[in-house]
Amino acid sequence: MPICGESSSLPSGSGAKVWIAHAGVLLGSCVAAAAAGYYLRRHRSRSFRSRVIGIIPARYASSRFEGKPLVPILGKPMIQRTWERAKLASTLDSLVVATDDERIAECCRGFGADVIMTSESCRNGAERCSEALQKLAKSYDIVVNIQGDEPLIEPEIIDGIVQALQRAPDAVFSTAVTSLKPEYAFDSNRVKCVIDSNGYAIYFSRGLIPFNKSGKVNPKFPYLLHLGIQSYDSEFLKIYPKLEPTPLQLEEDLEQLKVLENGYKMKVIKVDHDAHGVDTPEDVEKMEAIIREKNIE
Ligand SMILES: *[C@@H]1O[C@H](CO)[C@@H](O)[C@H](O)[C@H]1NC(C)=O
Repeated sequence: MPICGESSSLPSGSGAKVWIAHAGVLLGSCVAAAAAGYYLRRHRSRSFRSRVIGIIPARYASSRFEGKPLVPILGKPMIQRTWERAKLASTLDSLVVATDDERIAECCRGFGADVIMTSESCRNGAERCSEALQKLAKSYDIVVNIQGDEPLIEPEIIDGIVQALQRAPDAVFSTAVTSLKPEYAFDSNRVKCVIDSNGYAIYFSRGLIPFNKSGKVNPKFPYLLHLGIQSYDSEFLKIYPKLEPTPLQLEEDLEQLKVLENGYKMKVIKVDHDAHGVDTPEDVEKMEAIIREKNIE
């Protein structure tokens, strides 16, 4: 792919910013074109992007909640709950925990999970998934990043985003949204999303989007809440952590905007899901109440 080669060896210097943005778009179209060609070649023999791995990135240190993955929820470590739910997904060929911490690794091996040790320097889950992918003996076409703090994740959502990426060769990333409760409209910790008529992401924001002219929540508009689960084309995951931070990403503090700002396509599926992430120690009790109510083991 000559264009990809050229764009990656662009000179740095005064005009570098413009060039980087341009190179990103070029790289994006290269990936899309390569994906389409790959799709045509592969389609004859077997299905596209068929080898799938789920990775649960988990770290011990956290500013808000130290040791979060190991916190017991009704007697079972949170990460074990996440792992057990993810195990039920039918599209995953493998499932591993990626961690930098021996306590987490030991716990996970104890309940039968495969563990990949990753470095402490990973800045986020995507970076940890990327490093884990490179350390794996086998190769995969899709990596699902399963957040360890969503112990009630439905296996159907995992399967849904995998299938969405398999059916959209022009996308390198897929994720899920659900309807936004009006009380969260102006909560900047709840990320909103708008999509185009083909189900590709247009933008994500901590502010309310779209913004009604009246300045108020429109009770009739189907606002979308972003869920923290995502899957990547494995070729894209190799370069994703290396992409420079982008202006909108930095302004909103939303990692996924980097994907869109570089011109890549992201497929979004809509699901029914009550988001119950565990962010703080106080959330644990709420989670236990929900699990009791739903009668989950
Ligand atoms: C804004 O919201 C109201 C309902 O609150 C709705 O009637 C209207 O169509 C929306 N859009 C504009 C541009 O006002």
